[in-house]
Amino acid sequence: MSGKTLKTVNEAFQDEYPDDEISARQTIYRLATKFDETGSMEDAPRSGRPTSITTEENMELVSESYTLNPQKSQRRAAHDLDISRSSVRRIMKELNLKPYKPRLLQALNEDDPDRRLEFSQWVLDSIREDPIILDRILWTDEAIFQTNGRTNRHKGVVATLFVIVITLIYIYLKRAYSPSPGDLPGVKPHIFFGNLINSGIWTGESAFHQVLLDYQHHFGDKFQYWLGSHRCLVFCRIEHAQTIFADRRTFENSPLNHSNFDLFCPNSLVLLTGAKWKRHMRILLPMLKLAKIIGHLETIVQCADRFIDQNLHPGQIHRDLLSCCESLTMNVIGFVAFGCDFDIHANSQIKKAVHDFESYAMWLLPLPWIFRWLGKIYLKYNWKYQRASRLFHGLAQKLVEEEQNKQSEMENEPPKNLIAALVSSLNEEANDEQVSSGLTSAEIFDEILTMILFGYEGMPPALLWFIFFSSKNPQVQQKMKEELREHHLLMTNNLKCVPPLTANNLSSLTYCECVIKEVLRLAPVIEYTIRIATCDTIVDDVKIHRGQNVFIPLHNINTDARYWHHADPHQFVPERFLAEDKNHHPLAMIPFGGGHRACVGEKLAWFQLKTIIVRMMQR
Ligand code: HEM
Repeated sequence: MSGKTLKTVNEAFQDEYPDDEISARQTIYRLATKFDETGSMEDAPRSGRPTSITTEENMELVSESYTLNPQKSQRRAAHDLDISRSSVRRIMKELNLKPYKPRLLQALNEDDPDRRLEFSQWVLDSIREDPIILDRILWTDEAIFQTNGRTNRHKGVVATLFVIVITLIYIYLKRAYSPSPGDLPGVKPHIFFGNLINSGIWTGESAFHQVLLDYQHHFGDKFQYWLGSHRCLVFCRIEHAQTIFADRRTFENSPLNHSNFDLFCPNSLVLLTGAKWKRHMRILLPMLKLAKIIGHLETIVQCADRFIDQNLHPGQIHRDLLSCCESLTMNVIGFVAFGCDFDIHANSQIKKAVHDFESYAMWLLPLPWIFRWLGKIYLKYNWKYQRASRLFHGLAQKLVEEEQNKQSEMENEPPKNLIAALVSSLNEEANDEQVSSGLTSAEIFDEILTMILFGYEGMPPALLWFIFFSSKNPQVQQKMKEELREHHLLMTNNLKCVPPLTANNLSSLTYCECVIKEVLRLAPVIEYTIRIATCDTIVDDVKIHRGQNVFIPLHNINTDARYWHHADPHQFVPERFLAEDKNHHPLAMIPFGGGHRACVGEKLAWFQLKTIIVRMMQR
C-alpha cells in the first residue's frame, strides 16, 4: 500500500467494496502504518490498564468524520474509526453532537406569510358573512399539515395509492365498457348498470320484451345488450336459436339466467351442469312427464273449481287477480308435486314467504358478482328473508318426513309424485361419478324449493294473460264455448253438475288448444333465455368467446312477422293455428325455451293451463 496515493487506494477500495463508503483519510493512513510496522491489521496486545477511549485524538477523529459526512450512522462511524459504538456514542455526547432522522418539512417561500395572512383574513370575513360556511366545506384528512410545518408522509402515501388504484379501476372499467371494433351494434352502456338504466328497465319505464323488440328494430337481428355489468350477444333469428339450442356441448345454461340463485338454493337443478345436472334430472324428469301428470287431472280440476268458486262470480270486480292466479297455481303444485294441501289463500304464510323470497331475489339478481358478498350480508340480516327461509326449510323438512313415514308403511310402491321420487332417491353418499346414485338431503331440500318457486313463476301470468285476451275478444270465448257444446262439455242450466273432464275429451278440444297456444305465443310470460359459451365458437359470423353470454329473446321470435303469416303476429288470433300457420316452424314459438335446458315443467304447465282454462269456460 505504501508508495500509493490516497486516490489510488480509494479507487481500489471502491472496486473491491462498491456498496461501502470510503473510509476517512486518517483511518487509511493509520491502517497502512500499522501494516508496515507489524505486518498485520490486528491491534497489538496492550499491557496495563486500558486507556480511556475519549482521547483528544479520538474526539478529533469523530468530529472530523461527522464534519465530512453528517448523515453517517453511529454504526458506520464506529466501523470506520475502529472504535466501539458505545464509545462513539459517548464521544458524540461530549462533542454535543446529536443523532437525528431526516424529516420532510414544508418549505416556506418568501411571500407565503403574506398569502396565509390574506387567506386567513378572507376566512374570517366569510365566517362573519355566513356563520355556517365551515359546515359546507369538505375537509379531508389525507395529510395533516400542522403548525410546526411537518407533513404526515404516511397518509400522503396512502392517499396517493388510493388515487392510483381508483384511477386504474376507472381505466379498466372504461375499457371494459367501451365498444371495440367488430363489436355488435348496441346502445353505449353505463358502468355497472349496462343498458338497464338507459333502456328504462331499472326505472320501470319499459318492459323488457318491448326493449328487446325496439333494439331489434334499430340494430337488426344481432346486437349487444348489457345486462348490468354483463355483455350479452343477442340473436333474434330462428336459425340462431336452432344453432345455439342444438349445440349442447358449446352452449350451457348461463348463471345469468338465475344469477345469485345460489344464495338461496345452491343445489338447484337450474344452476347445475354436466353430470350433476344429469343426476338431478334422472329423478325429476320422469315425474314431470305427461303420462304422470295426466293422473293428477282430477286434482287440478278440483283446484280450478275452488278458484272459480272463490273468485269468478258474475259482476265481481277484481283488484288483484294476479294474486288469485298465484294462489291457484300454488295449490296445484302443492297437490300435484307434493301430495299436500298448501291451503293457499291471499294471506297465507307460504305465499307471503314466496313473495318475500322472490322480492329479495329480484332485488339481488341484477347485481354484478362484485356485490355478491354485500347481498349475502344483506340477506343475513334481513329478517323477512330469514323468516321466509326458515318457513321453507321447515316445510321441506315436514314434506320429507311425512313422505318417509308413508314409504315405510308401503314398501316397494313406484313413486306417484315428485316428493315420493325425491325421497326414495335419498342417499347421503350420492355423487356425480354415479349418475343414478340419487340425491342427498340438502339437494332434495333445494329441489323442493326450486319446484315451488319455478312452478309458481310462469303459470300465474299466463293465466292472467288468457283472462285479458279472452275478455278483449268475446268472439274467442264464444267459439270456445261452441266447441265445448259440440263435445257435450258445456255446463247448461238443465245440468245438475259440470260435465266431467277426461284426458281424452281435453285432447279433442282443438280450438281451445289454439287459444292457449296463442296466449303463450303472444304473452311475454318469460321474455328471454341466456346461454353461456363453454368454448370459443362462431354463430352467424359473430365470434363468441368462451364465457360469453348469448341471449335468445323468446318473445321477439314468437312474434316475428317472418315466421307468422296469418294475420299480424302482434294480434291475438288463435285461428292462425288452424290456417296458414298450422305448420309453423317448431322454433317459431318457444315460450318454454329450447334445447336440453328447456323448461322441465313444460308438460305440467301445458296440461294445467288447458285444464284450468277449459274448466273456466265450461262454467
Ligand atoms: C306457463 C308456464 C311456464 C313457462 C312459460 C315457463 C317457461 C320457462 C322458460 C322459458 C325456461 C327457460 C328455458 C331455457 O332456458 O331454454 C324455463 C325453465 C324452467 N322451468 Fe319453466 N315455465 C313455466 C312453468 C313451469 C313450471 C310449472 C315448472 C315446475 C315444475 C317449471 C320449472 C322450470 C325449471 C326447473 C326450469 C329450469 C330448467 C333448467 O335450467 O334446466 N316451469 N321455464
